[in-house]
Amino acid sequence: MTTRNCLVTGASRGIGSVIAGRLSAAGHRVALTARSADQLAEVAEKLPGPSLCLPADVTDPAAMQNVFSTVEDTWGTVEVLVLNAGAAVAKPIADLTDDEWLGQLDLNLTAPFRAIRRAVPAMAEGGWGRIVVISSIAGKAGEPNLAAYTASKHGVIGLVRAAAAELAKSGVTVNAVCPGYVDTPMTDGWVEKISARTGRPQDEIRTALERKQPIRRLITPEEVADVVDLCVASAAITGQAINVDGGAVQS
Ligand SMILES: NC(=O)c1ccc[n+]([C@@H]2O[C@H](COP(=O)([O-])OP(=O)(O)OC[C@H]3O[C@@H](n4cnc5c(N)ncnc54)[C@H](OP(=O)(O)O)[C@@H]3O)[C@@H](O)[C@H]2O)c1
Repeated sequence: MTTRNCLVTGASRGIGSVIAGRLSAAGHRVALTARSADQLAEVAEKLPGPSLCLPADVTDPAAMQNVFSTVEDTWGTVEVLVLNAGAAVAKPIADLTDDEWLGQLDLNLTAPFRAIRRAVPAMAEGGWGRIVVISSIAGKAGEPNLAAYTASKHGVIGLVRAAAAELAKSGVTVNAVCPGYVDTPMTDGWVEKISARTGRPQDEIRTALERKQPIRRLITPEEVADVVDLCVASAAITGQAINVDGGAVQS
């Protein structure tokens, strides 16, 4: 196995921390970024291999430029880029402000675009690269009260498909992973917010989210990481948006 230089965004908790652990356990060098330095350090402490903790807001171009430069100066080219950082604003369309709309596009679509643009020249020059974006099943089908998130997650799949087509001859693959509801702090936050808004008990809301997956449970972060592993292993899978949603959307 070749040891690769990996960069995982949103690595401080949830899906990103599990992906970072998986890449490290496979023998790779893993740079972790997210805004909360303390949480990043906690994740890095548990990794079996070499790591870098590089706190940054992914929507800040200068901060992300610094993240890439630090990885390159320390290890060399970023060869595996996992763009996982994301968040959702849940509101009916009529209540969404311009700032909320633009903020969702900035975080879930423009930040991945900037990172891919920054990463691809060196990957292509080296003749090998893997880019995996964590989109969502909301990138494949409309969800009520999630218009901005849904638009951003659909958009990032378009970015992945275009980049994959453009880079196919270069040895760089680009894929998206589209989870259903995953058992992470993000989903815990949704349960709390829906409960506060509707007055319904949290366990009832959690059960309703579990039932959105035909397999009748939440997806685990490990099941999302399984598909990231597959995308890293394969030179033939590119331009795909792979659902990890217990069968909710068949596409
Ligand atoms: N949970 C689900 O049900 C679900 C379903 C489908 C898709 N997804 C997608 O999967 C990805 C990970 O979700 P998760 O459930 O693991 O969420 P999570 O538990 O809330 O973790 C989100 C991660 O993103 C980071 N992040 C958020 N905004 C950031 C910013 N501006 N700059 C840098 N880092 C930022 C967070 O770190 P800091 O707060 O420290 O910055 C954290 O590490 C997201 O893209 C999400 O849309 C999640």
